[in-house]
Amino acid sequence: MDAEIGFNRTDILAQLNQRGSLSEKMQAIRAAASSCCDFIHRISVAIYDPRLDLLKTLAHSTDDGNPLPGYQTRLSDTPSLKRIFLSGKPRIINDLSVLIESEQTHTKRIVDHGYRSSYTIPMYANEQLSGFIFFNSRLPNVLHEKALTNLDMIARLISLLVELELNMVKTIHGALRTATSFSSYRDPETGAHLERMSHFSRLIAKEIALDCGMDDEFAETMLWASPMHDIGKIAIPDHILRKPGKLTHDEFEAMKAHTTKGRELIDNMLSNFNFGNSSLAPMMSNIAAYHHENMDGSGYPCGLKGEDIPIEARIVAAADVFDALTSKRCYKEAWSNAAACKELRALAEWKLDKRCVEILLDNLPAIIDIQARFQDDVTTGHTNPPSAG
Ligand code: C2E
Ligand code: SIN
Ligand code: SIN
Ligand code: FE
Ligand code: FE
Repeated sequence: MDAEIGFNRTDILAQLNQRGSLSEKMQAIRAAASSCCDFIHRISVAIYDPRLDLLKTLAHSTDDGNPLPGYQTRLSDTPSLKRIFLSGKPRIINDLSVLIESEQTHTKRIVDHGYRSSYTIPMYANEQLSGFIFFNSRLPNVLHEKALTNLDMIARLISLLVELELNMVKTIHGALRTATSFSSYRDPETGAHLERMSHFSRLIAKEIALDCGMDDEFAETMLWASPMHDIGKIAIPDHILRKPGKLTHDEFEAMKAHTTKGRELIDNMLSNFNFGNSSLAPMMSNIAAYHHENMDGSGYPCGLKGEDIPIEARIVAAADVFDALTSKRCYKEAWSNAAACKELRALAEWKLDKRCVEILLDNLPAIIDIQARFQDDVTTGHTNPPSAG
């Protein structure tokens, strides 16, 4: 009977096949999951960076706003999560309001948002803790055996999506590192420069995201995408790239091509790896292409002006110039933070985005912390290259 073949069914997770941020994909998963777990009102995923002992919200799905925008914590400062990590076992709380007295402010914020039940699952990649997935319900006592089995499966789906994204970042960084190791570019710009400027970029992006109501994913994406801003320098001849003195007009014109060369290289790689559909792709590409555009339109390669310059490129420009000023280069000595701050304030009048500069200047303790953590190794000029996460 023909009637047995039906094509009327719509794929409720079709959105997972399309380009989109992790938060958009989680929204789709939460909508699809509502048929079996309609009591789940919030799903959130946080990733763990073991080098900094830092747990950071990456993406979430709620129906009424994010109770914890820009949330991050040291795992060692969060005993309840540390216990989950050490035991490797999920945590079930069927009435959050009873523990409120003993818990940290972030749990209080969850309760203040009206959530009553919480299911927390540790996430692993290569047998290492890679983060946590949080499920919350506004109803108490909803986390029964059958519900938990469904949530475990949803959590696995989300963790696979996260792992896919992180693996993509690692693949691209690995390929770029390989390309870089065949050029002399790794000598003038050390891994420590990339670490610092990517953390400066993340710091700026976090504040911008709060200003604009953007997702936490934006700041993490900036951390991953910003180290590639100068990858096009591998196409610049040594005698220009490593020239100890000032560049001539023609040499500087040749140097400018590192922006368009960088975009070419990145676009090429993204398409070779079939990563073009990732939401990271246009950000990486824009950062390489536009990180030397100036707010007044006097920059290169396109002379874009103001908000026509993609925000990711404006962020990287501020972070990169600040670190270029405070670092030693083959053509200049390192400036003090005070001198660099003064220069940045002047550059905010015409070159750099005012808000990006303001955020850097307002967060000097965090800047100094990043500088202390990622120092140039004076004996070799190298540090470990940046890694994803
Ligand atoms: P870079 O060394 O990574 O510097 C990045 C950006 O930091 C520069 O972009 C510039 O905007 C800012 N910057 C660096 N040093 C100073 C400084 O002493 N004063 C001020 N106000 N800003 C500074 P820019 O100028 O477009 O240069 C792009 C790249 O071209 C530089 O990347 C560097 O690799 C190369 N370059 C620029 N000038 C020279 C030079 O005089 N000699 C050599 N050998 N290379 C240069
Ligand atoms: C979160 O839900 O995003 C973290 C707060 C918690 O520890 O439950
Ligand atoms: C770069 O050298 O610009 C990229 C290297 C990396 O991301 O590890
Ligand atoms: Fe550059
Ligand atoms: Fe740079």
